[in-house]
Amino acid sequence: MLSGEKVDLVAAERAYVPMYVKWINDPEVTQWLKADPPFSTEMEHGWVDRLRREGKIAFTILTKDGRPIGNIGMEEIVWRYRRVTIGIMIGEKDHWGKGYGSDAITTLLRYCFEELGMRRVDLITDSENHRAQHAYKKCGFHVEGLMKQYRTKNGRVIDDVMMAILASDWFAMHPPQGGA
Ligand SMILES: CC(C)(COP(=O)(O)OP(=O)(O)OC[C@H]1O[C@@H](n2cnc3c(N)ncnc32)[C@H](O)[C@@H]1OP(=O)(O)O)[C@@H](O)C(=O)NCCC(=O)NCCS
Repeated sequence: MLSGEKVDLVAAERAYVPMYVKWINDPEVTQWLKADPPFSTEMEHGWVDRLRREGKIAFTILTKDGRPIGNIGMEEIVWRYRRVTIGIMIGEKDHWGKGYGSDAITTLLRYCFEELGMRRVDLITDSENHRAQHAYKKCGFHVEGLMKQYRTKNGRVIDDVMMAILASDWFAMHPPQGGA
């Protein structure tokens, strides 16, 4: 388990699948995701089982009183280059805009840079997803570029934004404690 200030991150598992199915079939949530519903319980079980086989790492985000509110994960890990691409979804909409997402991201970044020794963490987001971009910038991500007409979603042609944070950015914001 990884502990943040407002959330804990625990390994994604089958016990949470009913929540995953609720979140990933909610159009207000998925309008911002690459995933296109519908997703069944069996499909979500399959997702959990494939994570380990495919060497991916996904966490369920719990509030400090143990309520599951979303998922965050490392979608692509390239150990050779110490680079990881992450994704996040707060599925409980009443928890949007209250700092849970930023805390989950910061907690995952700490793990990536301070435990795994990653050099770079990046992600791609819809250019119109202003809340997500604001949260990512708060956590230290920088915009690297605009990928015009990168994909379509619900009939809309989407420009995606590439954002990244480097280990040097992270340690400038979070200097190691107790150093010489
Ligand atoms: C994107 C997401 C992970 C962010 O998590 P969150 O808990 O809602 O975000 P936070 O509260 O930590 O931070 C959001 C910030 O954006 C601000 N914000 C909210 N709506 C905004 C908007 N429309 N435009 C700009 N900023 C906005 C908030 O005020 C907050 O900033 P502040 O702390 O300086 O006030 C979450 O909203 C979510 O999962 N949304 C649905 C799925 C999604 O978009 N996933 C990301 C795909 S790339």
